Amino acid sequence: EKGGYEHFMIKEIYEQPKAVRETMTSRVAKDNSGITFEELNWTKDDVSPIKKIAIIACGTAYHAGIVGKYLIENLSRIPVEVDVASEFRYRSPLIDEQTLAIVISQSGETLDTLAALKEAKKLGARTLAVTNVVGSSIARDSDQVIYTWAGPEIAVASTKAYTTQLVVMAMLAIYMGAIKGTLTTDKVQALCQALRELPAQAYEVLEDVEPIKTFAQQYGFNEDVFFIGRSLDYAVALEGSLKLKEISYIHAEAYAAGELKHGTLALIIEGVPVIALATQQDVYEKTLSNIKEVKARDAVVIGLGLKGDQQLEKYVDHTIFIPATNKFLTPILSVIPLQLLAYYAAVTRGCDVDKPRNLAKSVTVE
Ligand code: F6R
Repeated sequence: EKGGYEHFMIKEIYEQPKAVRETMTSRVAKDNSGITFEELNWTKDDVSPIKKIAIIACGTAYHAGIVGKYLIENLSRIPVEVDVASEFRYRSPLIDEQTLAIVISQSGETLDTLAALKEAKKLGARTLAVTNVVGSSIARDSDQVIYTWAGPEIAVASTKAYTTQLVVMAMLAIYMGAIKGTLTTDKVQALCQALRELPAQAYEVLEDVEPIKTFAQQYGFNEDVFFIGRSLDYAVALEGSLKLKEISYIHAEAYAAGELKHGTLALIIEGVPVIALATQQDVYEKTLSNIKEVKARDAVVIGLGLKGDQQLEKYVDHTIFIPATNKFLTPILSVIPLQLLAYYAAVTRGCDVDKPRNLAKSVTVE
């Protein structure tokens, strides 16, 4: 059932090109003209009344929501807030009929997310579920559903569910942007084209696993690791850090690179591994200055950048490169090396990769 792989997690990591492709099937037009969601079938009358979007989720799905906020705000110009489901319900959220609540859940059974969905509904919001499980409680309770076609995810640590959630967030942002008219036809075309190139590019990232294995073996016994990045790289840093914590039990923290000097820099001392994501061109120079700050404290820096970047290796100790894509889609590729790093670190440490201690695949308690 593991198809020759040692663990479900690594099998599912390698299934990502296929999962990403299937999630786009019949949604991204082959001629790149746009996105269709037959299950939504929205027109201007459905999208224009949305004054605010509330994204609600837990864990990895919450991290997909953070990327979703960035994409929807940029491409469809609708304000988005993102909440952890267990917090949402207890903060008197400002939700009404003009709010679209999007709940993201791989299993569709996470109790906190389900309860938050019910709360949003009670407050009058329209609801949309993004889930991987057909007929799950969250799918049944939402007004509308978009399925991620990742296939069953068995490993406790979520991988292919996350990348397919990101694909849905991107498609939804383009879809609403096209309907609202915040995106030009050219932009829509470029984004569709870039989306369709992702499966092959994800495959390319997976081919380049050897250096990552080496880093995992080299740094797998450090007790603290930091992930830094700006904008979308920060969102991916959060996910990379969660992956490492949950399966390898290494203490990891993700920091917005510009926020380091407001406290965390005190923890950066000689030999501490820092994984610095530098894929976002509009904040690239700023990220480089933050890399210099940690290098000045003798951290060991692994830089994650775009292929063709000639500068990065001058400032870091090691590099990982991923193929360049549209900046809004980069998280779908940049998370893959971080998943692999977590996986091989856990293997190096002899951890039970598929069933990490204290964790369950589907959290049906509050
Ligand atoms: C982390 C992980 C969890 C889940 C979270 C939400 O790898 O798997 O953080 O993402 O428990 O689960 P779902 O998406 O099923 O609601």
